[in-house]
Amino acid sequence: MLQKLVAPLLLLVSYSSTITAQDTQSSSRSSWPSCSARTQHLSDPPYQDYFYSDCHVDAQAVVTSPLPGSDLSIIKPRFLVAWPAGNSGVCTLFQPQSGKAGSLAIELVNSTLGAPLGPVYSKSKCKGSANPIVGVEGVLSFNDSAELPTAILGSVRNIRDFTEGGYLSPIIQAGINVTKFQKTGAQISRLWLDNVTTTTFTLVPWKNNHNHIQIDNTTLRFGAGLYRFSASFNYPQLTQLTPSQLLNEQSQSLAKQHQETVSSLSFFSYTEKLLAGGWRFLTYFGRDSMISALLLQPVLSSSAVEVVIGAALERVNRRDGSVSHEETIGDYATYVNLQNGIASTAAGFTYQMIDTDYYLPILMARYFNSSPNRITPLLDTKAGSINVDNLNLTWGDLSYATASKIMNITAAFEQNQTVDNLLTLKPGQNAGQWRDSPYGLANGRIPFDVNCALAPAALYAISSLAAKPSVYPNNSMTQTWAAIAAQRAKIWEDKTLQFFQYNMTTETAVARLAQYTSKSTFYDGPTNGDSVSNYSTDGMIIDYGLAINSPTTPEVIPITHTDTAFRHYLLNATDDEQLTTFINASANAILRPFPAGLSTPIGVVVANPALSNNNDFIGGFTNTAYHGTVVWSWQLALTAKGFERQLERCHGSSNVTDIPSSITNATAIPQFCSNNGVYTALKTAYNRLWDIIEDNSQQLESEVWSWTYSGGKNGTAKDFKFSPLGASGGTESDVRQLWSLTFLSVTRNKSFS
Ligand SMILES: *[C@@H]1O[C@H](CO)[C@@H](O)[C@H](O)[C@H]1NC(C)=O
Ligand SMILES: *[C@@H]1O[C@H](CO)[C@@H](O)[C@H](O)[C@H]1NC(C)=O
Ligand SMILES: *[C@@H]1O[C@H](CO)[C@@H](O)[C@H](O)[C@H]1NC(C)=O
Ligand SMILES: *[C@@H]1O[C@H](CO)[C@@H](O)[C@H](O)[C@H]1NC(C)=O
Ligand SMILES: *[C@@H]1O[C@H](CO)[C@@H](O)[C@H](O)[C@H]1NC(C)=O
Ligand SMILES: *[C@@H]1O[C@H](CO)[C@@H](O)[C@H](O)[C@H]1NC(C)=O
Ligand SMILES: *[C@@H]1O[C@H](CO)[C@@H](O)[C@H](O)[C@H]1NC(C)=O
Ligand SMILES: *[C@@H]1O[C@H](CO)[C@@H](O)[C@H](O)[C@H]1NC(C)=O
Ligand SMILES: *[C@@H]1O[C@H](CO)[C@@H](O)[C@H](O)[C@H]1NC(C)=O
Ligand SMILES: *[C@@H]1O[C@H](CO)[C@@H](O)[C@H](O)[C@H]1NC(C)=O
Ligand SMILES: *[C@@H]1O[C@H](CO)[C@@H](O)[C@H](O)[C@H]1NC(C)=O
Ligand SMILES: *[C@@H]1O[C@H](CO)[C@@H](O)[C@H](O)[C@H]1NC(C)=O
Repeated sequence: MLQKLVAPLLLLVSYSSTITAQDTQSSSRSSWPSCSARTQHLSDPPYQDYFYSDCHVDAQAVVTSPLPGSDLSIIKPRFLVAWPAGNSGVCTLFQPQSGKAGSLAIELVNSTLGAPLGPVYSKSKCKGSANPIVGVEGVLSFNDSAELPTAILGSVRNIRDFTEGGYLSPIIQAGINVTKFQKTGAQISRLWLDNVTTTTFTLVPWKNNHNHIQIDNTTLRFGAGLYRFSASFNYPQLTQLTPSQLLNEQSQSLAKQHQETVSSLSFFSYTEKLLAGGWRFLTYFGRDSMISALLLQPVLSSSAVEVVIGAALERVNRRDGSVSHEETIGDYATYVNLQNGIASTAAGFTYQMIDTDYYLPILMARYFNSSPNRITPLLDTKAGSINVDNLNLTWGDLSYATASKIMNITAAFEQNQTVDNLLTLKPGQNAGQWRDSPYGLANGRIPFDVNCALAPAALYAISSLAAKPSVYPNNSMTQTWAAIAAQRAKIWEDKTLQFFQYNMTTETAVARLAQYTSKSTFYDGPTNGDSVSNYSTDGMIIDYGLAINSPTTPEVIPITHTDTAFRHYLLNATDDEQLTTFINASANAILRPFPAGLSTPIGVVVANPALSNNNDFIGGFTNTAYHGTVVWSWQLALTAKGFERQLERCHGSSNVTDIPSSITNATAIPQFCSNNGVYTALKTAYNRLWDIIEDNSQQLESEVWSWTYSGGKNGTAKDFKFSPLGASGGTESDVRQLWSLTFLSVTRNKSFS
């Protein structure tokens, strides 16, 4: 209904010259010429996302407009522009002058300025800044009279502090300057804390002599109609990688076959770093970029993989070897420095995660195995261009620091396989791996993925790297690493899983499912208890907890999850008895439909507390929790690839292995392959998963999504409906996320059908 009110206004707009300004020719995308624009429109109601890149600027614009049925306490009219450069942006929050929630709709429409976005570019006149003023402009349509009381200009981090936490920083907002602009319009600007950069947002009536914008202190008021906006800033820009630079020789054709996906990947790929997702994470994230590079490695160019490895090395903490989780750049870096009493624009780096360290040697080993001639050029690179703290070091020095850290903290468990010697979250942190929301691990401190998959895989990788000349400095310590790390890896591979295993009889499981469905606030459908006996082991459900509570209270947290996929993907375990049980359990968790297992028609959920018999877990892991009974695209990719790798082992299809076979029998055919029940479960789970992935292909490139159920006790699959996570009160999802683009290289292997 709201949409219809807006539509007639479009007729007023002239489209005539828009096409020439835009490069909409697919053929020129793979190697774009000088300064033609690359644009993409993605509809993700109630969000509309527009991407714009040319040789001067890269921008993402997001229009939020309430729809019939939207939760109006969450979905409000909003217009936002985000730039990767400095992780910067503008967020404008509109409201209807009538005060009636839901009555104001906004839309970005095509115009002579762009279709719908056009470029802003001019040489800077600002004192002290050599950077040109760059940005985007276009025409916004308002169906009703509106006001703009709040604008946030500067860092996307300040915008997220508001959109995710309701916090408006007084220091940032105090800089907001609202003035008249071009007689009938208004300009909102803010000088950054660096005293050099200015972000500017202007709004002017478009092709209309009657409307004019009233300024009341810092609030703008204006009538229904069309308004030209411009959002710009003067800050150094990044250099985007073109599809042909991103993809390896064999994969160039993907740029045409999957034009939209490759275009998104390109938007996230720059010579300095890959970005995690848009609009919320247009910046470096170690885990996201390294997982993406691992899964995408079959299609990525060497330069793209080196960008990821280099970005991680550059940001390593030289003192303890930790790999950075996230960088703090742009205005937010100055803001954080100011909070610490320092007047400086220097970037900051966070190290609170414990998983990120391990991805680095794993990725380096995979890359250097295939490109040994790149070891020296890459590791000789001088550090410090981004992280000034690392001046005077090389990337090789930093790689050594990380390996040394991993060797140090994994040593104790080799000596003594106790729960005390497992890897725990850092003190004072309630997150440390990819489930990094406050309750993502149900307060557990010893995560499954880090202990059962990442640590052993990283140790094998260090062993393989140490065996190559010139990766690590040659000293008495590193001389023994090739052998020690491999031996230790085997112990971590074989002796960690048992700590996370738990079980219950099928009767107990069925009883818990009945309780769960009666308590759940969002699911009142069938328990699917019958699947419990079909997909179990000798009358037992065997499963592996999401985490262990803590070294002093070492209870397993009995939440079913998809992190088992890390182990399938990263390790070719050789303890046959353990492997057979583990493969059976993780395949069964996919084969059992929710709530008995992880599969819903809308996707495989990343966590399910239904069998936990624990009200805190059930209350904390819902369909609105960021890491609850919700679907993450990249976890689908990881699970698919993990199952595929294990299936491949049964067919001796490959001698390719990252693990030195002198240490393991990883190239031998494992016993589960000849266990008909377990092999069939794995193959069936692989195909069930791919059916679900294909059924949800519309969502696959977004970050995370949720679902609703409305079928009651006798409901069926058709009663599950897709629901955006942000629209139902959870965290707003990114419309595109780097690691959700990994389906470019993760595809269904038909030989396992
Ligand atoms: C706006 O222009 C784009 C690019 O030419 C086109 O794909 C889109 O359909 C246009 N939108 C409308 C509403 O006409
Ligand atoms: C506010 O903006 C106006 C117009 O651009 C400018 O002249 C003025 O210096 C700005 N004031 C502050 C405090 O930034
Ligand atoms: C910006 O200017 C103010 C006022 O002169 C000063 O206090 C502050 O330290 C400057 N900021 C930086 C990052 O240099
Ligand atoms: C203008 O708005 C600011 C910030 O909301 C407020 O502190 C100030 O008192 C207002 N001034 C007037 C004249 O209303
Ligand atoms: C780097 O080396 C130079 C010259 O030796 C020295 O002045 C500087 O302090 C060093 N920087 C760091 C971060 O160690
Ligand atoms: C690892 O331990 C060795 C020996 O105690 C020490 O020299 C080194 O600094 C440690 N490395 C890291 C990164 O903590
Ligand atoms: C292993 O750890 C246990 C429990 O902390 C401790 O009692 C035992 O002495 C340790 N053994 C060795 C050889 O360190
Ligand atoms: C179930 O768990 C109990 C307690 O940890 C353990 O003793 C038993 O061996 C397990 N059974 C199976 C089949 O894993
Ligand atoms: C694996 O390698 C061995 C020894 O190099 C070779 O004999 C065998 O044919 C290879 N197997 C496959 C499936 O390539
Ligand atoms: C595990 O085996 C599969 C199939 O042989 C292979 O593709 C994969 O590279 C191996 N993984 C590791 C970590 O060695
Ligand atoms: C590899 O397999 C052989 C034969 O099954 C066995 O004798 C040997 O102990 C295994 N080696 C390792 C390191 O597990
Ligand atoms: C569900 O199905 C059962 C058996 O077919 C029937 O007795 C019951 O009335 C149905 N319940 C609802 C709520 O439709």
